[in-house]
Amino acid sequence: MAVTVEIERPTKTLQMVDVVGQYRRYQQEFDDAVLAVLRSGSYINGPVVRAFEEEMSAYLGVRHAIACASGTDALQLAMMAIGITGGDEVLTTPFTFVATTETIALLGAKPTYADIDPRTFNVDPEEFRKKIGPRTRALLPVHLFGQTCDLTAIAELARERGLYLIEDAAQAIGASWNGVKACTVGDISCISYYPSKNLGAFGDAGMMTTNDDALAEKLRSIANHGSTKTYFHDRLGVNSRLDAIQAAILRVKLKYLDEWNARRKEVAALYTEIFSEEPDLIAPPFVHPSAEPIWHQYSLLIRADRTKVMQALREDGVPTSIYYPVPLHLQPAYQLSGGKAGDFPHTEYASEHILSVPMHSELSDTEVEYIAKRFITRVREFKA
Ligand SMILES: Cc1ncc(COP(=O)(O)O)c(C=O)c1O
Repeated sequence: MAVTVEIERPTKTLQMVDVVGQYRRYQQEFDDAVLAVLRSGSYINGPVVRAFEEEMSAYLGVRHAIACASGTDALQLAMMAIGITGGDEVLTTPFTFVATTETIALLGAKPTYADIDPRTFNVDPEEFRKKIGPRTRALLPVHLFGQTCDLTAIAELARERGLYLIEDAAQAIGASWNGVKACTVGDISCISYYPSKNLGAFGDAGMMTTNDDALAEKLRSIANHGSTKTYFHDRLGVNSRLDAIQAAILRVKLKYLDEWNARRKEVAALYTEIFSEEPDLIAPPFVHPSAEPIWHQYSLLIRADRTKVMQALREDGVPTSIYYPVPLHLQPAYQLSGGKAGDFPHTEYASEHILSVPMHSELSDTEVEYIAKRFITRVREFKA
């Protein structure tokens, strides 16, 4: 067994995500941007939001980027725009944040699931194929932890079966598959700017992207009470617009996004190098050769008593998190889909063995080494 050389505990408090660190680095820029909005009197939508939308559509290479109030709203609005309703089924993954399933159910449709590829944690296109039924209207894959799904296979499947494709790119802004960016392939793609995301606001914010002019117009109207002209309502809509303050903050951050993602990539490479010391107990994340991830999370599979490892690491000052401890088909709120233990073995295995370590642009190499070495030591101590 390789001997792990321990390194000294960092003086800084380690965090899963350092949301304040980026603010401190560019404080003047953020303060100026927010003050300019306060002085402008234009607080919802308006020129700053439009400018951010244009910058995002240029960054992603997509015709339309429509801002809304959150990633969750982006999913709901996307499904409203394609007409998802009671009796429809939307095929998605049971291994993700609840918003993906929640919004399907809120529209009266039924979330149905396909198991994940155990290496990438993303939905397996072949499983998607097997689960398409007569009521399936759309495929809703999630690009989990910042790595895109197999967009080539999934887009082909959607085309072949006449289904809508909605990408949940909440965790994958800037990630690509075979050089094609997430958010540019689906009929509609959904982005979250939740503060902990790679591009995070200082509050809730979201966006939908599409290359389809008619869908873009619909999305914009649905996000604004179904209206295209003030007090005239052509369709059912909601109030889901973006605050100009959040757009101003996001415009500052967008300038640094690629640099921050590049730092995450370095952090991931260093973690993987160190974790590879213990292949029997720790499986570092697998990167598909066609994928260029943005490392939203760095998630490991471990063969150890996870609760004890987490507790011991807490004593070492190393935070860890479980994304996600209960698969969606086993959540009490989603029993409408009739899920039971054993239905999705890869998902259930991942839920039981996964553990994520801190991942963000503000980590130093020394901190990464400390985290990884303590992690290995604790996993060995509590190995199963
Ligand atoms: C995969 C996924 N989908 C949807 C969402 C919902 O986004 P929001 O929190 O902005 O509503 C999130 C995250 O928060 C997410 O991780």
